[in-house]
Amino acid sequence: MKKVMLLTGAGQIGMAIARRMGYGMKIVIGDKKPENARAMAKTMNDAGFDTVPVEMDLSHRASIRNIIAQAQRHGDITMLVNAAGVSPSQAPVQAILKVDLYGTAVLLEEVGKVIAPGGVGVTVSSQSGHRMKQLSPEEDEQLACTPTEELLKLPLLQPEKIRDTLHAYQLAKRCNEKRVMAESVKWGSKGARLNSISPGIIVTPLAIDEFNGPRGDFYKNMFAKCPAGRPGTADEVANVAELLMSEKGAFITGADFLIDGGATASYFYGPLKP
Ligand SMILES: NC(=O)c1ccc[n+]([C@@H]2O[C@H](COP(=O)([O-])OP(=O)(O)OC[C@H]3O[C@@H](n4cnc5c(N)ncnc54)[C@H](O)[C@@H]3O)[C@@H](O)[C@H]2O)c1
Repeated sequence: MKKVMLLTGAGQIGMAIARRMGYGMKIVIGDKKPENARAMAKTMNDAGFDTVPVEMDLSHRASIRNIIAQAQRHGDITMLVNAAGVSPSQAPVQAILKVDLYGTAVLLEEVGKVIAPGGVGVTVSSQSGHRMKQLSPEEDEQLACTPTEELLKLPLLQPEKIRDTLHAYQLAKRCNEKRVMAESVKWGSKGARLNSISPGIIVTPLAIDEFNGPRGDFYKNMFAKCPAGRPGTADEVANVAELLMSEKGAFITGADFLIDGGATASYFYGPLKP
């Protein structure tokens, strides 16, 4: 038996974090597209890691429970990396809410029930959650604490309240951050920690879909006018994950870390201000 990392989302960000933190572990890679999970498993196994691909859908509780059960066959789950998700140009409003908002909430809840003492988790949120206007304290608490099966029934998530896919994505990512806070309290009772990372534009297939999508110019302008003047890389996101998931992060839990080259700062107080 080995210590197990459960990784959802066989994309660039997920792989960068898994490569940084998953040596010596069994890494169970879940993705809705089995070919993505298989391709990542091959790349990593060829580089000396021990991984196994599993088809899974973050938007279904049964699928989440299934991958957890498969992961537990290899040993105790001590790490969770959630890097599965769909972007505003990849999916309609309802799919974004089902995958990015509901699915993430269910995953944090289900893994929280089985995470080993000393375990750590990170979920990948987004700068988009920081850019949206503040919600009311009541709405924030609803996103944080509403039972998962009731989440999508919340008034602020009803179709007439959601302008477009970008708004749905922002709400989902805000919810991720709030959910991590509430779940981290439960994880803490098991001696485990949970945080989120909110990247800005990171060059991955998902971001490239955005560059080529209807908001392409908006995104290119965003990295041109942010203090860093460039998009980021998945390996830089892994730098933050390494802090959060290693002993150096022992006092960090229930927190969200923005890594966006300063784009959010520029959006509020610099040249990106709308
Ligand atoms: N790339 C960026 O600029 C950026 C910025 C901020 C946040 N993010 C977030 O990072 C996460 C990972 O994105 P990435 O850029 O590595 O993208 P990616 O496209 O490289 O990987 C995402 C993976 O998630 C999988 N996936 C999609 N829906 C799924 C589902 N229902 N169940 C299981 N797997 C599913 C996809 O098949 C894909 O393999 C996402 O949550 C995204 O919102 C990305």
